[in-house]
Amino acid sequence: MHILVTGGAGYIGSHTVLELLQAKHEVVVLDNLSNSSALSLERVEQITDRQALFLEGDIRDRALLDRIFSAHEIDAVVHFAGLKAVGESVQQPLMYYDNNVSGSITLCQAMAAAGVFRLVFSSSATVYGDPDTMPIAETCPTGQPTNPYGRSKLMIENILRDLAAADPRWSIALLRYFNPAGAHPSGLIGESPHGQPNNLIPYISQVAIGRLQQLSVYGDDYPTRDGTGVRDYIHVVDLAQGHLAALDAIVRVPGIHTWNLGTGTGYTVLEMIAAFEQASGRPVPYAIAPRRAGDIAECWSDPGKAHRELGWRAVLGLHDMMTDAWRWQSQNPQGYEDEPAN
Ligand code: NAD
Ligand code: UFG
Repeated sequence: MHILVTGGAGYIGSHTVLELLQAKHEVVVLDNLSNSSALSLERVEQITDRQALFLEGDIRDRALLDRIFSAHEIDAVVHFAGLKAVGESVQQPLMYYDNNVSGSITLCQAMAAAGVFRLVFSSSATVYGDPDTMPIAETCPTGQPTNPYGRSKLMIENILRDLAAADPRWSIALLRYFNPAGAHPSGLIGESPHGQPNNLIPYISQVAIGRLQQLSVYGDDYPTRDGTGVRDYIHVVDLAQGHLAALDAIVRVPGIHTWNLGTGTGYTVLEMIAAFEQASGRPVPYAIAPRRAGDIAECWSDPGKAHRELGWRAVLGLHDMMTDAWRWQSQNPQGYEDEPAN
């Protein structure tokens, strides 16, 4: 197939572009590089010996989208483009609603005008809010996300549901990611956050390499097995492969589908630190800090629906995530900033 990947230079996008190229799809990437580097795609080419066409631009630029759809026969869109920093979304809500919600609307308008109706959308477990019971299945009602970022994801899901209800030509996958982690085993592509990381694994990695002094563990008084927060960490390569399975499924079965992409297993923050220390052979100094506003105690998936309907399941475990995260970090201590872009 010919696939347009928005946000394809980013962390999950670049890993998915790699899998798409290896599966012999033709790929066009649209990314404004607001949170990424085009080097990721050069590295993908190095690994796959195949090239995605890279276009630098914004999903909110309708004229550009129209030009892309008229110049290329696109069969489906995999839509990663968006902003994702929870704290920043609280400070700058309009920027988040504009990029994420308005951007997705513009993209769907351009798709419909071009007669392209297959869409895979990056949603998030954040749409479940703070559910009472674990694991979280897709039948669990969506809750109240605690920040504008989370609300933007839920708004887009609702918009896409309305679209699919109004026009049967749409075939849409809402993929609710749990916590993406790790990197491609080559060590050539990975997560390269600008500035101080917000998420646990990039933070731990930068402490282990000596860029940051110590990790703050946000709360040790949650009702969990060691008091720290539990999450369902999923290897980014497994996650990327889930997108290919979802693409196959929406070609076969039109309509709108929701799939959790997780492993079904939760780990605490302290377990993550211990696993990283073991995989890297480096100590990760940490201190217990107050709870972070908006965090929930635990969150892990029931991944059964994706397995039944997509034939996909995560196969890589915690050790793979940590080994691969460390390989990426140790080979690229400053992420993509190590190498000047051409
Ligand atoms: P990322 O920031 O690495 O990738 C997003 C990409 O989109 C970046 O390359 C950025 O430059 C690009 N982009 C942003 N706004 C754009 C715009 N208006 N036009 C064109 N390009 C734009 O983030 P990621 O971790 O790869 O996340 C990809 C998607 O998955 C996002 O939609 C994110 O919200 C979602 N998601 C991520 C996580 C996570 O923990 N990483 C969890 C759940 C959902
Ligand atoms: N944590 C720390 N110290 C840190 C960073 C995180 O103790 O420096 C803890 C958090 O309190 C939490 C766990 O590590 O218990 C994971 O935190 P992350 O920030 O890595 O991830 P979140 O679960 O908070 O959120 C992530 C993404 C969201 C997404 C959500 C569900 O950031 O965008 O997963 O997919 F919505």
